[in-house]
Amino acid sequence: MRSDRFTRRAALALAAGLSLAAAVPALAQDGAAKKIRIGVIGAGNIGGTIGGLWVKDGHEVMFASRHPEALASMVSGLGPKAKAGTPEEAITFGDAVFIAVPYKAYPDLAKEIGPALKGKVVLDAGNATQKRDGALYDEVQASGIGATSAKYFPGAKLVRAFNAANYKVFAKEGADGGKDRSGGRMAIPIAGDDPEALKVAEGLVRDAGFDPVVVGSLKDADKFAMGSPGFGHDVTAPELREKLGLSK
Ligand SMILES: NC(=O)c1ccc[n+]([C@@H]2O[C@H](COP(=O)([O-])OP(=O)(O)OC[C@H]3O[C@@H](n4cnc5c(N)ncnc54)[C@H](OP(=O)(O)O)[C@@H]3O)[C@@H](O)[C@H]2O)c1
Repeated sequence: MRSDRFTRRAALALAAGLSLAAAVPALAQDGAAKKIRIGVIGAGNIGGTIGGLWVKDGHEVMFASRHPEALASMVSGLGPKAKAGTPEEAITFGDAVFIAVPYKAYPDLAKEIGPALKGKVVLDAGNATQKRDGALYDEVQASGIGATSAKYFPGAKLVRAFNAANYKVFAKEGADGGKDRSGGRMAIPIAGDDPEALKVAEGLVRDAGFDPVVVGSLKDADKFAMGSPGFGHDVTAPELREKLGLSK
């Protein structure tokens, strides 16, 4: 069994929005996290998959829907650490929040929950596709995916994460804590501007069964956006670093 990796103090520090200095000593040497509370906004393919991996690792997860009652059988199947709620309830619940909704929903979602996300660690799985997201896709092409997410959720400690592969790949590779193949587990590229949030995201990526690769700041998230050279690789961290031209 994996060791606990955040202390209670870290979770409280994160919830209170305290500094990196306060939160980081609580990270264990293997860099993964003691169990925290996570609010998952959007319990579809990606939110359901990654949220489910966190539950299996021992985190408490509230899955949010516009119709939480529709998630009853999903959360009961995951056991007592999984709950269903509204997006607002999931944000209040979570020490960290995972956004996994269609990108075209961001403007409306931002009006509803943007203020509540200020100061929160927010992992952002959203991708923009031309067919589904229309004008939002055009905005992302013009401004970059990291800058566009940051525009809709100003003040959130955003980390782009779990964007660069299909949920079925995540489900397979994250099962049983991730399979150790030669060189490590499947790598997940992440990018963000806030060092504390990046540390939290690295821990949560590990806890879902993957190895994180910090690609850079939010503007660097374009390096693994859909259609970019960093998208769609089921490879280990050293292999992904090489593909992205990152130092070891
Ligand atoms: N699917 C993948 O393999 C994959 C991989 C990487 C990244 N992504 C990205 O992750 C995001 C989610 O993709 P998905 O495939 O998981 O989508 P999905 O299966 O359609 O689920 C999205 C969830 O978002 C919620 N939602 C939809 N419209 C909403 C709105 N206007 N406001 C609030 N919530 C809304 C829905 O929940 P309720 O109707 O219950 O509210 C739905 O369950 C997308 O941006 C996608 O590009 C997907």
